[in-house]
Amino acid sequence: MNSLTSERSKIPPQKCKEVSLDGCRLIGRGLKGEVYRYDDELIIKIYNSSYSYGDVEREAALCRRAFVLGVPTAISFGVVSVDDRYGAMYELVDAETLSALIAANPSRISYYAKEMADLANIVHGTVAEDKDDFPEVKDRFREYIINGLKRTDSDLAGRCMKLLDDMPQTKHLIHGDFHTSNVFLHGSETLLIDMDRLAVGDPVFELGDMYLYFVSGGSKDPGGLDPYLGISYAACREFFGLFLKYYLKTEDAARIREVNDKAMLMADIRLINRYWKPGVLTEETGMKVDNLTNEIKRLLDRIKCLNIMS
Ligand SMILES: Nc1ncnc2c1ncn2[C@@H]1O[C@H](COP(=O)(O)OP(=O)(O)O)[C@@H](O)[C@H]1O
Ligand SMILES: [Mg+2]
Repeated sequence: MNSLTSERSKIPPQKCKEVSLDGCRLIGRGLKGEVYRYDDELIIKIYNSSYSYGDVEREAALCRRAFVLGVPTAISFGVVSVDDRYGAMYELVDAETLSALIAANPSRISYYAKEMADLANIVHGTVAEDKDDFPEVKDRFREYIINGLKRTDSDLAGRCMKLLDDMPQTKHLIHGDFHTSNVFLHGSETLLIDMDRLAVGDPVFELGDMYLYFVSGGSKDPGGLDPYLGISYAACREFFGLFLKYYLKTEDAARIREVNDKAMLMADIRLINRYWKPGVLTEETGMKVDNLTNEIKRLLDRIKCLNIMS
Protein backbone atom coordinates (compact mmCIF):
# COMPACT_ATOMS: atom_id res chain seq x y z
CA MET A 1 0.00 0.00 0.00
CA ASN A 2 1.39 3.46 -0.86
CA SER A 3 1.88 6.17 1.73
CA LEU A 4 -1.21 8.24 0.82
CA THR A 5 -3.47 5.25 1.28
CA SER A 6 -1.72 3.81 4.35
CA GLU A 7 -2.00 7.19 6.08
CA ARG A 8 -5.70 7.31 5.23
CA SER A 9 -6.27 3.81 6.59
CA LYS A 10 -4.98 4.92 9.99
CA ILE A 11 -7.74 7.50 10.39
CA PRO A 12 -9.82 6.35 13.36
CA PRO A 13 -13.38 5.34 12.45
CA GLN A 14 -15.13 7.07 15.36
CA LYS A 15 -15.36 10.33 13.42
CA CYS A 16 -17.90 9.12 10.90
CA LYS A 17 -21.55 9.95 10.99
CA GLU A 18 -24.16 7.20 11.48
CA VAL A 19 -27.01 7.19 8.99
CA SER A 20 -30.06 5.05 8.34
CA LEU A 21 -31.06 3.80 4.90
CA ASP A 22 -34.72 3.23 5.89
CA GLY A 23 -36.90 4.25 2.97
CA CYS A 24 -33.92 4.86 0.65
CA ARG A 25 -34.14 3.39 -2.86
CA LEU A 26 -31.52 0.90 -4.08
CA ILE A 27 -30.14 2.28 -7.36
CA GLY A 28 -27.10 0.18 -8.03
CA ARG A 29 -25.39 -3.01 -7.05
CA GLY A 30 -21.77 -3.98 -7.62
CA LEU A 31 -19.23 -6.50 -6.38
CA LYS A 32 -18.32 -4.39 -3.36
CA GLY A 33 -21.81 -3.57 -2.10
CA GLU A 34 -24.87 -1.51 -2.96
CA VAL A 35 -25.67 2.07 -3.87
CA TYR A 36 -28.73 3.84 -2.38
CA ARG A 37 -30.29 7.17 -3.25
CA TYR A 38 -30.11 8.99 0.11
CA ASP A 39 -31.96 12.17 -0.85
CA ASP A 40 -32.34 14.40 -3.89
CA GLU A 41 -28.64 15.29 -3.86
CA LEU A 42 -26.71 12.41 -2.33
CA ILE A 43 -26.12 8.70 -2.74
CA ILE A 44 -24.55 6.30 -0.28
CA LYS A 45 -22.29 3.56 -1.58
CA ILE A 46 -22.48 0.96 1.16
CA TYR A 47 -19.73 -1.65 1.22
CA ASN A 48 -19.93 -5.31 2.20
CA SER A 49 -18.96 -5.90 5.84
CA SER A 50 -15.50 -7.22 4.86
CA TYR A 51 -14.51 -3.63 3.94
CA SER A 52 -12.91 -1.59 6.73
CA TYR A 53 -13.29 2.10 7.44
CA GLY A 54 -9.82 2.55 5.90
CA ASP A 55 -10.83 0.82 2.64
CA VAL A 56 -13.85 3.06 2.23
CA GLU A 57 -11.97 6.22 3.15
CA ARG A 58 -9.22 5.23 0.71
CA GLU A 59 -11.64 5.18 -2.25
CA ALA A 60 -13.15 8.51 -1.15
CA ALA A 61 -9.64 10.02 -0.86
CA LEU A 62 -8.68 8.80 -4.35
CA CYS A 63 -11.89 10.29 -5.68
CA ARG A 64 -11.18 13.67 -4.04
CA ARG A 65 -7.65 13.69 -5.43
CA ALA A 66 -8.87 12.82 -8.94
CA PHE A 67 -11.38 15.65 -8.70
CA VAL A 68 -8.67 18.12 -7.71
CA LEU A 69 -6.49 16.93 -10.61
CA GLY A 70 -9.34 17.77 -12.98
CA VAL A 71 -11.02 14.41 -13.60
CA PRO A 72 -14.78 14.93 -13.93
CA THR A 73 -16.17 12.85 -11.08
CA ALA A 74 -18.94 12.90 -8.45
CA ILE A 75 -17.94 14.92 -5.37
CA SER A 76 -17.22 12.82 -2.29
CA PHE A 77 -18.77 13.84 1.05
CA GLY A 78 -16.91 11.45 3.32
CA VAL A 79 -17.51 8.18 5.12
CA VAL A 80 -20.61 7.20 7.10
CA SER A 81 -21.63 4.09 9.00
CA VAL A 82 -24.82 2.14 8.44
CA ASP A 83 -25.40 -0.55 11.10
CA ASP A 84 -22.23 -2.65 11.02
CA ARG A 85 -21.11 -1.49 7.55
CA TYR A 86 -19.32 1.54 6.20
CA GLY A 87 -20.47 3.64 3.32
CA ALA A 88 -19.34 6.67 1.39
CA MET A 89 -21.53 9.62 0.49
CA TYR A 90 -21.28 11.05 -3.00
CA GLU A 91 -23.08 13.68 -4.99
CA LEU A 92 -26.04 12.07 -6.79
CA VAL A 93 -25.47 12.02 -10.54
CA ASP A 94 -28.94 12.36 -11.96
CA ALA A 95 -28.16 10.86 -15.34
CA GLU A 96 -27.87 7.55 -17.21
CA THR A 97 -24.72 5.47 -17.46
CA LEU A 98 -23.23 4.97 -20.92
CA SER A 99 -24.09 1.25 -20.58
CA ALA A 100 -27.80 2.08 -20.15
CA LEU A 101 -27.67 4.56 -23.03
CA ILE A 102 -25.99 2.13 -25.43
CA ALA A 103 -28.51 -0.59 -24.53
CA ALA A 104 -31.43 1.83 -25.09
CA ASN A 105 -30.09 3.57 -28.23
CA PRO A 106 -27.84 1.13 -30.09
CA SER A 107 -27.87 3.28 -33.24
CA ARG A 108 -25.96 6.00 -31.35
CA ILE A 109 -23.10 3.70 -30.38
CA SER A 110 -20.55 5.73 -32.33
CA TYR A 111 -21.49 8.92 -30.45
CA TYR A 112 -21.14 7.17 -27.08
CA ALA A 113 -17.79 5.65 -28.10
CA LYS A 114 -16.54 9.15 -28.95
CA GLU A 115 -17.70 10.46 -25.52
CA MET A 116 -15.89 7.58 -23.80
CA ALA A 117 -12.75 8.22 -25.87
CA ASP A 118 -12.75 11.94 -25.06
CA LEU A 119 -13.09 11.10 -21.37
CA ALA A 120 -10.22 8.59 -21.58
CA ASN A 121 -8.06 11.28 -23.17
CA ILE A 122 -8.87 13.66 -20.29
CA VAL A 123 -7.99 11.03 -17.66
CA HIS A 124 -4.84 9.77 -19.42
CA GLY A 125 -3.77 13.29 -20.31
CA THR A 126 -3.69 14.10 -16.58
CA VAL A 127 -0.22 13.63 -15.14
CA ALA A 128 -0.05 12.94 -11.40
CA GLU A 129 2.47 14.71 -9.24
CA ASP A 130 5.19 12.85 -7.33
CA LYS A 131 3.51 13.67 -4.01
CA ASP A 132 0.36 11.84 -5.16
CA ASP A 133 2.06 8.51 -4.71
CA PHE A 134 -0.63 6.55 -6.57
CA PRO A 135 0.05 2.86 -7.14
CA GLU A 136 1.74 1.83 -10.40
CA VAL A 137 -0.78 0.12 -12.68
CA LYS A 138 2.12 -2.01 -14.01
CA ASP A 139 2.36 -3.76 -10.64
CA ARG A 140 -1.17 -5.10 -10.99
CA PHE A 141 -0.14 -6.77 -14.29
CA ARG A 142 3.06 -8.12 -12.72
CA GLU A 143 0.82 -9.92 -10.22
CA TYR A 144 -1.33 -11.33 -13.04
CA ILE A 145 1.79 -12.75 -14.70
CA ILE A 146 3.17 -14.23 -11.47
CA ASN A 147 -0.13 -15.83 -10.48
CA GLY A 148 -1.19 -16.92 -13.96
CA LEU A 149 1.02 -17.13 -17.04
CA LYS A 150 4.13 -18.07 -15.03
CA ARG A 151 2.42 -21.26 -13.86
CA THR A 152 1.72 -22.21 -17.47
CA ASP A 153 4.84 -21.07 -19.30
CA SER A 154 7.63 -19.49 -17.26
CA ASP A 155 9.74 -18.53 -20.33
CA LEU A 156 6.85 -16.66 -21.87
CA ALA A 157 6.08 -15.05 -18.51
CA GLY A 158 9.73 -13.90 -18.36
CA ARG A 159 9.44 -12.30 -21.79
CA CYS A 160 6.29 -10.43 -20.72
CA MET A 161 7.96 -9.30 -17.48
CA LYS A 162 10.92 -8.00 -19.45
CA LEU A 163 8.58 -5.93 -21.63
CA LEU A 164 7.00 -4.50 -18.45
CA ASP A 165 10.43 -3.74 -16.95
CA ASP A 166 11.56 -1.96 -20.13
CA MET A 167 8.63 0.46 -20.15
CA PRO A 168 9.49 4.10 -19.49
CA GLN A 169 8.20 5.40 -16.14
CA THR A 170 5.18 7.63 -16.75
CA LYS A 171 2.57 9.08 -14.44
CA HIS A 172 -0.49 9.29 -16.66
CA LEU A 173 -3.60 8.82 -14.58
CA ILE A 174 -5.28 5.44 -15.10
CA HIS A 175 -8.81 4.82 -13.84
CA GLY A 176 -8.38 1.06 -13.56
CA ASP A 177 -12.03 0.04 -14.08
CA PHE A 178 -12.85 2.03 -17.18
CA HIS A 179 -16.12 0.61 -18.48
CA THR A 180 -19.41 2.12 -19.50
CA SER A 181 -21.25 1.36 -16.22
CA ASN A 182 -18.78 3.66 -14.44
CA VAL A 183 -19.44 6.57 -16.80
CA PHE A 184 -22.49 8.82 -16.75
CA LEU A 185 -23.53 11.11 -19.56
CA HIS A 186 -25.01 14.26 -18.08
CA GLY A 187 -26.17 16.53 -20.88
CA SER A 188 -23.07 16.68 -23.04
CA GLU A 189 -20.69 16.01 -20.13
CA THR A 190 -19.27 12.69 -19.02
CA LEU A 191 -18.66 11.87 -15.37
CA LEU A 192 -16.54 9.04 -14.06
CA ILE A 193 -17.18 7.14 -10.81
CA ASP A 194 -15.75 4.15 -8.93
CA MET A 195 -12.21 5.29 -8.24
CA ASP A 196 -10.68 2.60 -6.07
CA ARG A 197 -8.30 1.35 -8.76
CA LEU A 198 -6.90 4.75 -9.63
CA ALA A 199 -3.23 4.36 -10.53
CA VAL A 200 -0.50 5.81 -12.72
CA GLY A 201 1.36 4.46 -15.72
CA ASP A 202 0.94 3.95 -19.43
CA PRO A 203 -2.63 3.87 -20.79
CA VAL A 204 -1.98 0.53 -22.51
CA PHE A 205 -3.08 -1.15 -19.26
CA GLU A 206 -6.42 0.69 -19.27
CA LEU A 207 -6.96 -0.39 -22.87
CA GLY A 208 -6.09 -3.95 -21.87
CA ASP A 209 -8.77 -3.90 -19.16
CA MET A 210 -11.24 -2.51 -21.70
CA TYR A 211 -10.31 -5.21 -24.20
CA LEU A 212 -11.16 -7.78 -21.54
CA TYR A 213 -14.51 -6.14 -20.67
CA PHE A 214 -15.64 -5.44 -24.23
CA VAL A 215 -13.96 -7.95 -26.53
CA SER A 216 -12.60 -11.09 -24.82
CA GLY A 217 -15.79 -11.88 -22.91
CA GLY A 218 -18.23 -12.50 -25.71
CA SER A 219 -16.27 -14.38 -28.32
CA LYS A 220 -18.58 -17.40 -28.10
CA ASP A 221 -22.03 -15.84 -28.17
CA PRO A 222 -22.17 -12.47 -29.98
CA GLY A 223 -25.98 -12.27 -29.61
CA GLY A 224 -25.92 -12.75 -25.81
CA LEU A 225 -26.00 -9.90 -23.29
CA ASP A 226 -22.95 -9.11 -21.21
CA PRO A 227 -24.37 -9.62 -17.70
CA TYR A 228 -22.47 -6.75 -16.14
CA LEU A 229 -22.74 -4.10 -18.84
CA GLY A 230 -26.23 -5.07 -20.11
CA ILE A 231 -25.04 -4.62 -23.72
CA SER A 232 -24.95 -7.36 -26.38
CA TYR A 233 -21.51 -8.88 -26.94
CA ALA A 234 -21.65 -7.80 -30.59
CA ALA A 235 -22.29 -4.19 -29.53
CA CYS A 236 -19.48 -4.40 -26.95
CA ARG A 237 -16.99 -5.39 -29.66
CA GLU A 238 -18.21 -2.72 -32.02
CA PHE A 239 -17.96 -0.19 -29.18
CA PHE A 240 -14.34 -1.05 -28.48
CA GLY A 241 -13.36 -0.74 -32.16
CA LEU A 242 -15.00 2.68 -32.44
CA PHE A 243 -13.57 3.77 -29.08
CA LEU A 244 -10.01 2.91 -30.12
CA LYS A 245 -10.25 4.87 -33.37
CA TYR A 246 -11.57 7.95 -31.56
CA TYR A 247 -9.16 7.56 -28.66
CA LEU A 248 -6.13 7.40 -30.95
CA LYS A 249 -7.59 10.12 -33.18
CA THR A 250 -6.46 8.29 -36.29
CA GLU A 251 -7.68 6.22 -39.23
CA ASP A 252 -4.18 4.75 -39.60
CA ALA A 253 -4.86 0.99 -39.68
CA ALA A 254 -1.27 0.09 -38.70
CA ARG A 255 -1.36 2.27 -35.55
CA ILE A 256 -4.82 1.00 -34.58
CA ARG A 257 -3.68 -2.60 -35.05
CA GLU A 258 -0.50 -2.02 -33.03
CA VAL A 259 -2.44 -0.64 -30.05
CA ASN A 260 -5.17 -3.26 -30.42
CA ASP A 261 -2.49 -6.01 -30.28
CA LYS A 262 -1.02 -4.55 -27.09
CA ALA A 263 -4.46 -4.28 -25.47
CA MET A 264 -5.18 -7.90 -26.47
CA LEU A 265 -1.90 -9.02 -24.90
CA MET A 266 -2.79 -7.30 -21.61
CA ALA A 267 -6.28 -8.80 -21.65
CA ASP A 268 -4.89 -12.31 -22.33
CA ILE A 269 -2.49 -11.95 -19.40
CA ARG A 270 -5.32 -10.87 -17.10
CA LEU A 271 -7.63 -13.63 -18.34
CA ILE A 272 -5.04 -16.36 -17.73
CA ASN A 273 -4.67 -15.04 -14.16
CA ARG A 274 -8.45 -15.28 -13.78
CA TYR A 275 -8.55 -18.92 -14.96
CA TRP A 276 -5.76 -19.80 -12.51
CA LYS A 277 -7.57 -18.23 -9.52
CA PRO A 278 -8.97 -21.54 -8.15
CA GLY A 279 -5.36 -22.84 -8.04
CA VAL A 280 -5.94 -25.65 -10.56
CA LEU A 281 -7.14 -25.73 -14.15
CA THR A 282 -10.00 -27.94 -15.32
CA GLU A 283 -9.97 -29.59 -18.76
CA GLU A 284 -12.03 -26.66 -20.05
CA THR A 285 -10.06 -23.81 -18.46
CA GLY A 286 -6.81 -25.61 -19.33
CA MET A 287 -7.75 -25.49 -23.03
CA LYS A 288 -8.64 -21.82 -22.77
CA VAL A 289 -5.33 -21.06 -21.10
CA ASP A 290 -3.47 -22.98 -23.83
CA ASN A 291 -5.24 -20.98 -26.54
CA LEU A 292 -4.46 -17.70 -24.78
CA THR A 293 -0.83 -18.73 -24.26
CA ASN A 294 -0.49 -19.47 -27.98
CA GLU A 295 -2.09 -16.13 -28.78
CA ILE A 296 0.44 -14.39 -26.52
CA LYS A 297 3.29 -16.15 -28.37
CA ARG A 298 1.94 -14.89 -31.71
CA LEU A 299 1.48 -11.37 -30.33
CA LEU A 300 5.03 -11.26 -29.00
CA ASP A 301 6.33 -11.87 -32.53
CA ARG A 302 4.92 -8.45 -33.41
CA ILE A 303 5.14 -6.48 -30.15
CA LYS A 304 8.52 -4.96 -29.41
CA CYS A 305 7.54 -2.57 -26.61
CA LEU A 306 4.39 -2.16 -24.52
CA ASN A 307 3.95 1.56 -24.01
CA ILE A 308 1.61 3.46 -26.30
CA MET A 309 2.40 6.90 -24.85
CA SER A 310 5.72 8.38 -23.88
N1 LIG B 1 -22.81 9.23 -7.62
C1 LIG B 1 -23.72 8.40 -8.15
N2 LIG B 1 -24.90 8.89 -8.63
C2 LIG B 1 -25.83 8.06 -9.16
N3 LIG B 1 -25.68 6.70 -9.29
C3 LIG B 1 -24.53 6.16 -8.84
C4 LIG B 1 -23.50 6.97 -8.26
N4 LIG B 1 -22.49 6.17 -7.91
C5 LIG B 1 -22.87 4.93 -8.25
N5 LIG B 1 -24.09 4.91 -8.82
C6 LIG B 1 -24.82 3.72 -9.35
O1 LIG B 1 -24.40 2.56 -8.66
C7 LIG B 1 -23.68 1.64 -9.54
C8 LIG B 1 -22.53 0.99 -8.77
O2 LIG B 1 -21.65 2.03 -8.27
P1 LIG B 1 -20.06 1.89 -8.33
O3 LIG B 1 -19.45 3.03 -7.62
O4 LIG B 1 -19.65 1.70 -9.74
O5 LIG B 1 -19.87 0.55 -7.48
P2 LIG B 1 -19.01 -0.79 -7.73
O6 LIG B 1 -17.65 -0.46 -7.20
O7 LIG B 1 -19.70 -1.80 -6.90
O8 LIG B 1 -19.02 -1.06 -9.21
C9 LIG B 1 -23.26 2.51 -10.74
O9 LIG B 1 -23.08 1.76 -11.92
C10 LIG B 1 -24.42 3.50 -10.83
O10 LIG B 1 -25.51 2.92 -11.50
MG1 LIG C 1 -18.62 0.27 -10.83
